[in-house]
Amino acid sequence: MIRRHESNLLNVSFENMNLPNSVSIYDCTLRDGEQTPGVTLQASDKLKIAKQLEKLGVDVIEAGFPVNSGNEKEAVTLISKEVSNCEVAALARIIKKDINECLDCDVDIIHVFVPTSQVQLKYQIGKEPEEIINSTIEAVNYVKDHGVKCVFSAMDATRSNINYLLEIYRNVEAAGADVINIADTVGVMIPSSMKKFVSGITSKLKTKLSIHCHNDYGLAVANTLAAVEAGAEEVQVTVNGLGERAGNAALEPVTVALETVYGVKTNINHKYLAETSNLVTRLTGVTLSPCTPIIGENAFTHESGIHVDGIISKPSTFEPINPEDVGQKRRIVIGKHTGKSSVKKALEELGIRNIPDNMIKELTLKLKDISAKGKILTDLDFIALVQEALKLNIYEQKVKLKELVIVTGFPITPSATVKLLINGEEKIGHSIGVGPVDAAAKAIEKILDPLTQLKLKEFSLKALTGGTDALAHVSIIVEDKEGRIFRSEAVNGDIVVASVNAVINAINKAFQAKEKEVLKSAR
Ligand code: KIV
Ligand code: ZN
Repeated sequence: MIRRHESNLLNVSFENMNLPNSVSIYDCTLRDGEQTPGVTLQASDKLKIAKQLEKLGVDVIEAGFPVNSGNEKEAVTLISKEVSNCEVAALARIIKKDINECLDCDVDIIHVFVPTSQVQLKYQIGKEPEEIINSTIEAVNYVKDHGVKCVFSAMDATRSNINYLLEIYRNVEAAGADVINIADTVGVMIPSSMKKFVSGITSKLKTKLSIHCHNDYGLAVANTLAAVEAGAEEVQVTVNGLGERAGNAALEPVTVALETVYGVKTNINHKYLAETSNLVTRLTGVTLSPCTPIIGENAFTHESGIHVDGIISKPSTFEPINPEDVGQKRRIVIGKHTGKSSVKKALEELGIRNIPDNMIKELTLKLKDISAKGKILTDLDFIALVQEALKLNIYEQKVKLKELVIVTGFPITPSATVKLLINGEEKIGHSIGVGPVDAAAKAIEKILDPLTQLKLKEFSLKALTGGTDALAHVSIIVEDKEGRIFRSEAVNGDIVVASVNAVINAINKAFQAKEKEVLKSAR
């Protein structure tokens, strides 16, 4: 279980809650998450995510909606065959054809759903409330008769008449549903009402209750936790909060809050949260705001002088949990709000100690000034400025870009020629690629692979401003053959140059790390 800082709970009260001891995590990333506008996953990518979710420790993976297409059915079948440490579920309407498609995929759980609100009954399926009761019971019976577990969801439950909803729930309970789910399909609940609503249902049923919240008002996580406060024992969540429209309740804050705030157990291995989130970002192409809780780039990044002072003397001053516990790293960045402590710490990380206070002050002012003009300082910029200000020769950039020629267009295959200076010696690499960035990275790899054996693990690209002249901000993660991870970034008006510089920065970092090791062992 993830560590919690007791001081966080000074004014948190658990009175009037019906908290379960543990909550199971039902992950919907591959179904509701794939319904995120613009996201389509190939079966092989779905399998990669499923294997990662298995490693993360979710209890159930909802792998898809098999009736949707042949590809979807293929993906669900593959996942159900390849995943063995958690249960695999598939979605079906209360229609035999849908359920048969799920049965063909050999899943452990079939999740049947039907709308129960007036508006959805009338305008979505064109039925009267009484008309669907028998077919709902038949659908649950049909699943159970095939020896498969059944999760039943009332879609739009939170906008349904409570007496009618309870009638449906009592009937599916009698038919043997294993889990009964309450869907806040349009994300309209507020936490206090959710708690009352769920309490009113838990008190009338014996079956395990589950909650599925959408994020239309940004309340999905809060509503999910409110449902747990009322006794829900399963939460339906998605990695990175993906899902229809504004998405679903995000797995990361829900599971971390359950453990570190409520003290409720889950089977999640939190140290894999960042890795899982990065994989889903890469395969779906949906990037996160840096301010995303737990897994966002800034979730453990500190800039202001006051915060950095606190963090240096005791991290819990400005961090509610330890970044390593969720697979994240603490970052102290130099920016407009930076103080002397950050600069001193950054220098120490470069192995530079005992610099007089007045020099650190001068350097801090210079860095603040540059940042205030809107420039993003990369690690290499910082090193260059330190070298200049302190007249030190800290690290020589081993690898420098000398020339880059890109040939691209339509319908020709993009190609790149890269000329690098490695320790002053000129090396040329040439490659084709699926795009100009790919071609340039491959050309660099051709020159450097025998030297560095670095593997590119993650690549992400952001535009810093909105127009066609936007600055491209490339962040990459590479791994060396000892398994060390190096992150680097670069900003440029040209996306290919930004990408090439990011790769070269990472390579220089790997070289610097080696030099630091040599320096340390020599001391
Ligand atoms: O949002 C929703 O209601 C759903 C159901 C299928 C549970 O995703
Ligand atoms: Zn949903």
